[in-house]
Amino acid sequence: SPFHPLLQALPKCEHHMHIEGALSPDLLFDLASRNDVSLPGNDESFASPSALHNRYKRFTSLDDFLQYYYIGMSVLINESDFEDLAWDYFQKAASGGLAHAELFFDPQAHSGRGVGVSTVVRGFDAARRRAEEELGVSSLLTPCFLRHLPAEDSLSAFRDPVLQQYFASGSLIGVGLDSSEADNPPKLWRAIFEEAGKLGLKKTAHAGEEGPPEYVSEALEELQVDRIDHGVTLARNPTIMKEVARKGVMLSLCPKSNVVLRCVQNIQQVPIRTYLDAGVNFSINSDDPAYFGGYILDNFCEVHEAFDLSLEEWTHICKTAIEGSWCGRARKDELL
Ligand code: HPA
Ligand code: ZN
Repeated sequence: SPFHPLLQALPKCEHHMHIEGALSPDLLFDLASRNDVSLPGNDESFASPSALHNRYKRFTSLDDFLQYYYIGMSVLINESDFEDLAWDYFQKAASGGLAHAELFFDPQAHSGRGVGVSTVVRGFDAARRRAEEELGVSSLLTPCFLRHLPAEDSLSAFRDPVLQQYFASGSLIGVGLDSSEADNPPKLWRAIFEEAGKLGLKKTAHAGEEGPPEYVSEALEELQVDRIDHGVTLARNPTIMKEVARKGVMLSLCPKSNVVLRCVQNIQQVPIRTYLDAGVNFSINSDDPAYFGGYILDNFCEVHEAFDLSLEEWTHICKTAIEGSWCGRARKDELL
């Protein structure tokens, strides 16, 4: 498309990117052999990187994907593994015009395997510094808590002194909530969000991905979140949608993710036009790019093909994403 160079050149910010979701099948196999980690022998999908890549084209739900996502993480052991993973992401996303990234990671998925938060954060920080210096890409880091585990597990993970020290130093900017959404209402994690609020941290939660639009209002009211991750089901409830528009809360939409995990049938069904018309703020994000077949520019391109947005609309989307970012005013002004 003649529009492609324009999409490429737009200053892109993403706010919904799980670093563990940038683990490509090639890197997964490299790290498995480097670390002598054995992959499941009873699943043919782990026969080779290309077999795994093909399996990723046939996810049936969020939980079907999550099963592979958590097995994939088992190869991440050393600080350098986390650095390599994040650096691979930064290079690929920067080639598509990424300017600023707000990254999620899942501390409980690593501490549960005996890999401590400091190993993870130090590895990511090394890649983030390099991305800043060599690619001009700024980034922020946010731990997410896993809603398939009991809320008490998340609360003790949140209170981990090592994690708390990273909040205090500003290495970690906020808290998020991810993993299986269905039947895990946001309010169960209220204690974490209350404590995070007292510490002056940013707050966000996955809501309205597979779950109902009521989980979006519940996250806003009970958890006092600053942002909603996904919110694709919000369009089904015009009352809540109008309230989100009125509050100016930003959704971090993930169009390719929603198609691959079958939250929608195709990109056309992501309510991009509905949200533009209703004045709902949103950014466009890759979620788990190595699993969903594309980085941020691929998401921009597919949305453009489906909705034929004007340059004014793209400029508006990018400005909204910059203003909705958690970086300081000075960085926002550089990006605008
Ligand atoms: N939803 C919920 N949990 C996740 C996701 C997602 O899209 N990606 C990684 N963890
Ligand atoms: Zn996500």
